[in-house]
Amino acid sequence: MLELINVAKSYESPGDTVGLCVLKDITLKVEKGRSVAIVGPSGSGKSTLLNIIGTLDRPSGGRVLFDGKDLAKLADSELARIRNREIGFVFQLHHLLPQCTVLENVLVPTLADKKHLSPKESEERAINLLQRVGLKDHLLHRPGELSGGQRQRVAVVRALINRPRLLLADEPTGSLDERASQNIAELLVELNRSEQVTLILATHSMKLAENMGRVLELNNGGLAEKGKH
Ligand SMILES: Nc1ncnc2c1ncn2[C@@H]1O[C@H](COP(=O)(O)OP(=O)(O)O)[C@@H](O)[C@H]1O
Ligand SMILES: [Mg+2]
Repeated sequence: MLELINVAKSYESPGDTVGLCVLKDITLKVEKGRSVAIVGPSGSGKSTLLNIIGTLDRPSGGRVLFDGKDLAKLADSELARIRNREIGFVFQLHHLLPQCTVLENVLVPTLADKKHLSPKESEERAINLLQRVGLKDHLLHRPGELSGGQRQRVAVVRALINRPRLLLADEPTGSLDERASQNIAELLVELNRSEQVTLILATHSMKLAENMGRVLELNNGGLAEKGKH
């Protein structure tokens, strides 16, 4: 469902003609329903790669195919639809709205497109997912009343509310302790299976990465199967 062909990314900096080349020649194919970890030290380009896959950023070279469609050739409206409907994002910081309840936060992505799921369907799905992640007694709580791990569970549910086909998780446990991290990892694996959502997770933690079906390492702008250089 996702294919990257010779993807490169460099950042220009003023007065620097060469620029910073973060990704050099990334080729990657991910089939539907799989789970993949992208590992590498801080600064190796994990977020840059996820942002390109998630259509939040454009590559400097190469192509990204989503279901065979070249992202560079799509109109902005189609890109926005893919970003909102087909892709779910979980970041290191949950970015929940502090003044809204857990339930309201989860429903935010459904507001842009009410034709996809009706308000009633959205609410039923939200409550069902929140139940499954152990938050059924917290629907009306505000994020400030939850633990870090609970907040990140809310962020995971919000990312899945529109039934995306691809879930991108960028250091989703980066601000959690070890136990909460392992819980989030197990939750992601469970949802990858039960929701049939393809999962790409970026992390510097090998321990977290090992929960995924495949582990790829970013090194000097290239991507290789971990252990095979
Ligand atoms: N918008 C940007 N402008 C310039 N340089 C950037 C930008 N975003 C990231 N970088 C640089 O690209 C490199 C990779 O960053 P990043 O993708 O965030 O790595 P990681 O997520 O693996 O820590 C770093 O050297 C970072 O400073
Ligand atoms: Mg990062």
